[in-house]
Amino acid sequence: MNRFDLHTKILIGGAGLDEVLRGMHRVFIVTDKFMAESGAVKYLTDRLAAQHAEWRIYSEVGPDPDISMISAGVGMVLDFAPEAVIAFGGGSPIDAAKAIVYFAAREFDMHDCPFIAVPTTSGTGSEVSKFAVITDRDKGVKYPLIDDSLLPDYAVLDAELTKSVPPKVTADTGIDVLTHAIEAYVCTEANSFTDALAEKAMELVYQNLLTAYQSPNDMEARQNMHNASCLAGAAFSNAGLGLCHSMAHALGAQAHVAHGRANGILLPYVMSFNAGCDRSALTKTAERYAELAALLELQATNLRQSALNLIRTVRRFESKMGIPHSIRDAGVSAADFERMLEPMAEAAIADRCTATNPQSCTKEDIIEIYREAYTGRSILVRT
Ligand SMILES: NC(=O)c1ccc[n+]([C@@H]2O[C@H](COP(=O)([O-])OP(=O)(O)OC[C@H]3O[C@@H](n4cnc5c(N)ncnc54)[C@H](O)[C@@H]3O)[C@@H](O)[C@H]2O)c1
Ligand SMILES: [Zn+2]
Repeated sequence: MNRFDLHTKILIGGAGLDEVLRGMHRVFIVTDKFMAESGAVKYLTDRLAAQHAEWRIYSEVGPDPDISMISAGVGMVLDFAPEAVIAFGGGSPIDAAKAIVYFAAREFDMHDCPFIAVPTTSGTGSEVSKFAVITDRDKGVKYPLIDDSLLPDYAVLDAELTKSVPPKVTADTGIDVLTHAIEAYVCTEANSFTDALAEKAMELVYQNLLTAYQSPNDMEARQNMHNASCLAGAAFSNAGLGLCHSMAHALGAQAHVAHGRANGILLPYVMSFNAGCDRSALTKTAERYAELAALLELQATNLRQSALNLIRTVRRFESKMGIPHSIRDAGVSAADFERMLEPMAEAAIADRCTATNPQSCTKEDIIEIYREAYTGRSILVRT
């Protein structure tokens, strides 16, 4: 990789948002039903009312936004002609808003229309990434759009917004952060800049995720997880991701498993494959896992055990937060899994995240990893 880019200005807390919105008259908000109906969106509308601004809310975004949700949002943007767009919610509304702005900009000049992302989950890092993941429900595929123009102009990090996130979502989104940090650290385009971000994200997740899960009102843990999510987002936006994300996109699209949960199920198996735990020789990626293990003071006397300690730590975190260890335990029947396997493997090999995975892989490798993840055959048995 020959460049490192952080386009997005990061504002900590809500005060900076008032500054950015000053003088805006027409603001378009993209969120989901829950955030609109629970009143959480008053975080924005109270501010806009105080500034005598007009707003329009598009809240028809569901989990894993699809093409129809995007085109409805584009229509509303073109009709409303906003001076600013705010994405408010988890990764689903933020990705939807990114795609809406991306497509609306083809028909309407959005150059002087700031795009502001306000994440309310600590997970995707979408507020600072050039990725937007869109689902094609007819084809059963999730596509990562990757483009510099998808980078928000501002990200507002206010952990107060995450206090209401239920433990299951804290678990899934927290494991998504962990997966971003690990995949960005070992992927083919990693460099010292992205390593620094991924390492800090790893430390913060290691120190804070279980606390945020067990004590939702612990604001120090919540803010640290919010920062970790953003740091990991900046790392993978520049370095890329890997096979776990490709396989999770396909699993999510076919079996409707939440994004973070799909990553959590697959990560230990993909790490084991990437490290070469089941082959005679450990890979360079095993060395990178051992570096992360050392960062967390989990290193052992040899490389294999150090890499395994990291994989086992991922598993330990997942066990403590009730994340299933297999696709079967996530509720996918054997018959459904067999039907989905071939299309999932096809989609995963074609996914843009596979190109930056540290080990090259074939469709057969992916099928084998899915099969292991289906039955939950222990990675510890494989070594
Ligand atoms: N663009 C990227 O870089 C990137 C990276 C990873 C994942 N993604 C995508 O992001 C999506 C997943 O995002 P997510 O994991 O944040 O989930 P999400 O946005 O789908 O939200 C999950 C649930 O949490 C609820 N929620 C959100 N904030 C809440 C709050 N403060 N209090 C209570 N409930 C709240 C939502 O209403 C929803 O029911 C997937 O589509 C995934 O593919 C994008
Ligand atoms: Zn992710």
